Amino acid sequence: PLALALALALGYLLGSVPFGLLLTRAAGLGDIRQIGSGNIGATNVLRTGRKGLAAATMLLDLLKGVAALLLAAALWGEVAGLLAGFGAMLGHAFPVWLGFKGGKGVATGGGVLLAAAWWLGLGALLVWLAVVATTRISSAAAIAACLAAPVIAALAGRPDLALFAAGIAALVLWRHRGNIARLRAGTEPRIGRTG
Ligand code: G3P
Repeated sequence: PLALALALALGYLLGSVPFGLLLTRAAGLGDIRQIGSGNIGATNVLRTGRKGLAAATMLLDLLKGVAALLLAAALWGEVAGLLAGFGAMLGHAFPVWLGFKGGKGVATGGGVLLAAAWWLGLGALLVWLAVVATTRISSAAAIAACLAAPVIAALAGRPDLALFAAGIAALVLWRHRGNIARLRAGTEPRIGRTG
C-alpha cells in the first residue's frame, strides 16, 4: 500500500512537468496557454510555427510517461508501474504547478502504453499516425487511438491491459471535451494552423 501510494506520487510528479510550457517559455515565445487552443501539448506548440519545439514537447511528454512506469515498476513491481503510469497522466492533466490546469495526455498516454506493453503503444501510435495522415486533425487522431487501445489489448488476450488502456482513454477523452464539440461543429483546426 505504501509502495503503491509512492508509485502514484512519483508518477504524478514526473507527469506534472509541463514541457510544452517550459520549452516555449525558454524559447521566448511567451505563455503557450495564450496561444491557439491554450493547451500545453505538442499540437499547440506546433501552432507557434516551431516544429523542433513541438517535436521536443511530444518526445519529452512521452518519455515522462515511460519513465514513470518503468521507474516505479523497477522499484515496486508491475502493478506499481501501471499505477505510476496513471499517476503521470493525472500529473500531466492536472499539474499542481499550473493550478491543476494541464494538458490532454496524448503523448504521455502513448508513452505509458508503450512502457506497459510495446505492442500496445505501437498499435495506438499506428492508429494515431493513420488518422493524422488522413485527416490532419490531431484531436481526431488522439480520440481514435485511445478508443483503439483497449480493443487492441483485448484482442491480444490481455483484459488487464484493456482495462488499464480504457482508464487512460477515459481521461484523454474527458480532456478532449472542447475538441469533441469543435469536431462536431466542424470547426476543429487542422495541424499547423492556428485556431
Ligand atoms: O494532443 C492534444 C491534441 O489531441 C489536441 O490539441 O491543442 O488541438 O487542443 P489541441
